[in-house]
Amino acid sequence: MSLTLVTPTRDYLPAYVAALGRGWSPDTTAGGEATRLAQLEKIATDADGFLAGLDDPEALAGDVQLPDGSMVKRLPGYYRWLWDGDLVGAIGIRWTPGTEALPPHVLGHVGYAVVPWRRGEGHATAALGLLLPLAAESGLRWIDLTTDPDNVASHRVIVANGGRLIERFTKPEAYGGTEGLLWRVALTLP
Ligand SMILES: CC(C)(COP(=O)(O)OP(=O)(O)OC[C@H]1O[C@@H](n2cnc3c(N)ncnc32)[C@H](O)[C@@H]1OP(=O)(O)O)[C@@H](O)C(=O)NCCC(=O)NCCS
Repeated sequence: MSLTLVTPTRDYLPAYVAALGRGWSPDTTAGGEATRLAQLEKIATDADGFLAGLDDPEALAGDVQLPDGSMVKRLPGYYRWLWDGDLVGAIGIRWTPGTEALPPHVLGHVGYAVVPWRRGEGHATAALGLLLPLAAESGLRWIDLTTDPDNVASHRVIVANGGRLIERFTKPEAYGGTEGLLWRVALTLP
């Protein structure tokens, strides 16, 4: 089965929980392990609420906690799970309505993570390619992504999808104040 992006539902939840149980986190920031544990807890107590929070283009869920613990207002956004008969990873998008601009604490429109045991099979490249037309439908003319300077696999995912490097920048203190790379992918309506 080829890779698809699926809206998170109860059908896929056991495979997602299994991936979390194997130590994978969809959160690629320093807060990844805390996110993994928080998601397992939320799924155990309120699976439907957890799933609803992953598909929130109206920003109806509550505020968001940054890696340093500070709280910020949620942007509209949603996650899709990478699925090829099993859970392969997750990709998320968030945006500010009516503009490509993002608040300084939001490191890019799109983030993705592939489970370690399925990396190097082209899934992240395919997933970003599948997300681009969806991003265009949200009214965005481009998406920004940020990576660590040494995350070569992610650089290649972005470049393979037509992205170009914009600049090197310093991440906000909430993300550790380290160096990052800003990338941009231009979108065309399908
Ligand atoms: C980055 C990540 C999403 C890539 O997922 P993936 O499905 O393995 O990526 P792909 O298979 O599509 O590979 C993309 C490219 O990176 C290359 N690549 C894969 N792993 C690599 C590695 N460890 N070092 C260097 N290049 C690598 C592949 O060869 C491929 O290059 P090519 O298109 O020139 O052949 C995955 O490594 C991951 O989940 N990492 C942790 C989370 C993360 O860093 N997310 C991105 C945050 S910006």
